Amino acid sequence: VFYPSIMANSCRKLIFNIYIVFYCSAVIMPQICICSQFTSSPIDQFNKDPKAFPIATNGEIFPWHELRLPTVVIPLHYDLLIHPNLTSLDFVASEKIEVLVRDATQFIVLHSKDLEILNASLQSEEDVRYRKPGESLSVLSYPAHQQIALLVPEKLRADLRYSVAIDFQAKLADGFEGFYKSTYRTLGGETRTIAVTDFEPTEARMAFPCFDEPLFKANFSIKIRRESRHIALSNMPKVKTIELEGGLLEDHFETTVKMSTYLVAYIVCDFTSVSGTASSGVKVSIYASPDKWSQTHYALEASLKLLDFYENYFDIHYPLPKLDLVAIPDFASGAMENWGLVTYRETSLLFDPKTSSTSDKLWVTKVIAHELAHQWFGNLVTMEWWNDIWLNEGFATYMELISLNITYPELQFDDDFSNTCFEVIKRDSLNSSHPISNQAKTAIQIKEMFDAVSYNKGACILNMLKDFLSEDTFRKGIIRYLKKFSYRNAKNDDLWHSLSNNCLESDSASGGFCYSDSKKTSNTLTFLRKNVELKEMMATWTLQKGIPLVVVKREGRSLRLQQERFLSGVSKEDPEWGTLQERYLWHIPVTYSTSSSHAIHRHILKLKTDTLDLSEKTDWVKFNVDSNGYYIVHYDGQGWDELITLLNQNHTLLRPKDRLGLIHDAFQLVSAGRLTLDKALDLTRYLQHETSIPALLKGLEYLELLYRMVERRNISDVTENLKLYLLQYFKPVIDTQSWVDEGSVWDRMLRSIVLKLACYLNHAPCIHKATELFSQWMESSGKLNIPTDVSKVVYSVGAQTTAGWNYLLEQYELSLSGAEKNKILYALSTSKHQEKLMKLIELGMEGKVIKTQDLAALLFAIARNPEGQQLAWNFVKENWTHLLKKFDLGSFPIRMIVSGTTSDFSSKDELQEVELFFESLKAQGSHLDIFQIILETISKNIKWLEKNLPTLRKWLLITT
Ligand code: BES
Ligand code: ZN
Repeated sequence: VFYPSIMANSCRKLIFNIYIVFYCSAVIMPQICICSQFTSSPIDQFNKDPKAFPIATNGEIFPWHELRLPTVVIPLHYDLLIHPNLTSLDFVASEKIEVLVRDATQFIVLHSKDLEILNASLQSEEDVRYRKPGESLSVLSYPAHQQIALLVPEKLRADLRYSVAIDFQAKLADGFEGFYKSTYRTLGGETRTIAVTDFEPTEARMAFPCFDEPLFKANFSIKIRRESRHIALSNMPKVKTIELEGGLLEDHFETTVKMSTYLVAYIVCDFTSVSGTASSGVKVSIYASPDKWSQTHYALEASLKLLDFYENYFDIHYPLPKLDLVAIPDFASGAMENWGLVTYRETSLLFDPKTSSTSDKLWVTKVIAHELAHQWFGNLVTMEWWNDIWLNEGFATYMELISLNITYPELQFDDDFSNTCFEVIKRDSLNSSHPISNQAKTAIQIKEMFDAVSYNKGACILNMLKDFLSEDTFRKGIIRYLKKFSYRNAKNDDLWHSLSNNCLESDSASGGFCYSDSKKTSNTLTFLRKNVELKEMMATWTLQKGIPLVVVKREGRSLRLQQERFLSGVSKEDPEWGTLQERYLWHIPVTYSTSSSHAIHRHILKLKTDTLDLSEKTDWVKFNVDSNGYYIVHYDGQGWDELITLLNQNHTLLRPKDRLGLIHDAFQLVSAGRLTLDKALDLTRYLQHETSIPALLKGLEYLELLYRMVERRNISDVTENLKLYLLQYFKPVIDTQSWVDEGSVWDRMLRSIVLKLACYLNHAPCIHKATELFSQWMESSGKLNIPTDVSKVVYSVGAQTTAGWNYLLEQYELSLSGAEKNKILYALSTSKHQEKLMKLIELGMEGKVIKTQDLAALLFAIARNPEGQQLAWNFVKENWTHLLKKFDLGSFPIRMIVSGTTSDFSSKDELQEVELFFESLKAQGSHLDIFQIILETISKNIKWLEKNLPTLRKWLLITT
């Protein structure tokens, strides 16, 4: 799910590399943690109620009825031999799984999806009855649960080890999951095929029968057969290659460390690589298709730097001898952290100095930082179950911030982190949001957990906690957590426990907590002495959905604080408001600064209301210092007026991130009916003098959102006046932009965004310059390099003529740079001609010129175009079954397509249409959580317009 964001990197994703401006108790068994949810054995259950059991494909009773596997048999080691045939596009394979039987059993249940099982047998050194090579076992299959059951002739005995051998085969998958085929075109025009895996969360079972749950960690020894024109890669380094009869080669890889199935990976391809060595001696290589070799160097530099950083920061060596990062031509998401063999979408790894912009660089660096963080958070320590996927994804997202601040300070990534939080607040302030830790049972529900709540909110509450505990204490805590749970699984409470008991010998403990010296004097310690339980506090952020609103009222020298649940789209006057508030309460670590001191004051708001006393008289107070807290602040009474006056008189008295936070909160409060739109707009009037680019861009983003909303609804008077206002008011910023790649990262971001907006608004000098650059580019036959930060706007202006559009499409086909292709595709999607937009969709569906992996971003972009919104939506409705053949329900692309083509609707008719469509899908058995989120978003848009359009109209008349 994507959210508008200004900086590329704050959006997870694919959107043309995204910087579309708009955006967009465990029992420890020999070192294994197993949680059993069953009190009686399955056999007992089966004897009690045979009808409660499913029927296998052959008509027999399948001995297991749960989605989760039984914990009676656990895997210890897998031997895998895989032979993909890249000509016939299928693979044959065999495996031996060494298992430990914990309780006597008559069957072994494991996962398998779309695999043809050729033979299964069982042997055991420890059980005399099974010492001889076994006969074939009978195999039952229950596809609804993606499980198979192996029935054994004689009951397996407790505490003995057995070896299960299975031969199987399948086609290489057509989509993007399991063991699938991917193709690319060489410079010479030849189409080549590679075979690659992508398993998370539940697709390892498509490649080999396995115990496909994160808790079942095991060691893997992998062998791959290939032709000599190919290479094979896997998690571990190759130990040897043997030549087989007929010239086939068989690569043997070292045995892995103990790991979950979803992290297993292998690739057969003809890629080339660049390599380097990290300080610890780990060999790092970047692989790409041969013609893209020249784009791999930045990734090598970044991954070496980041690997060094993490080994040092976590004080834990990266445990494998090598780390490969591979650019895959067809990839559903942005990247995947397979241990030792990280796979990426090409645009998330490759950097082409000639065509990649600042935001492309930021994106690549951020994705590498994210996936490398997973080598510890996720791979070394894994969540027990998918309900806590935030322990992987929230942490990896948070570590992007920590690592990039140190390794790439020049990218000024820190200034963008607030946007990571703002993106999820939009969604978390709807009633249809969900807690960070959420139930997930089916494969679809598990996939749906990979959303902004797990990623962004996860990262934001970790950042808030770090700010509260101090960076040093937080770091010690996570090191303790990583060390304690290495090669094992963990849950939320394990994290809280490690964070609150992290006193190293040398530290002095106080009340069960210890804090860095710098904080010993702060209020934090006092509060913690009062026995603030970290676990209790964090439960309010992880087990409860939503975001709190802190209402501040200044009465003389006291501050009255009140917390409530923040709900956008529902105002206090609405009848449902009361019920929606019931039982919500957070432990909020609030911070504030005042006009009378620069100090950061701290307090934990645990009650609904509280009072703070100020030591001095102050002119203003600003809560949520640097926007580090996950809460919105409303200033009651004269509060907002005081702040608006302050911003207009001397905005530099507030810190840049505080200014950014005020703009964000003001517009959020408008959606919740707590602040009138004219107040929020008045607040933006200081922006003419704003020197902090993130704050300026935030203000512009909200104004552009308003513009796009009224433009889509054809409210022409308001559209025209808003356009005039934007162009007049921001003229100084627009006119001072150069059309060259120069300045800091934020200068360059500002240039891209401001010029794109100016040209979108038809600002004559902008159109003129862009047209000139576009003609020069066309005349040079695409050889001239357009400055990378403005190439998107130049192409978009060029795409408005038929000749320009056609030329761009030709260049799209020819380009070897994914970054460049994304910019061109975006430009093509801005055409005002429906037939051109339709042509793009057709090309995307065909999957040749425009790859299927880019279809979701394409539909998303077309839906942002006022001329394309209806077209994209109609297309999705009419081609739903076709789309589901390309992407799994619940997958990232499907969710992006549905929300991308509907969430901007703002009329009752549109709402009804979307409702009807979702009803029809539900009737066919397709349901997604985002349906509810979308309906709530559209209803919110409708209400917003009804309420605020008159105010906007009036404000513009007075102002312009
Ligand atoms: N573990 C995920 C990949 C993934 C995504 C698996 C969705 C299953 C479902 C990976 O670490 C990831 O988060 N990738 C992001 C990019 C990242 C920089 C935010 C993605 O693919 O969007
Ligand atoms: Zn991730």
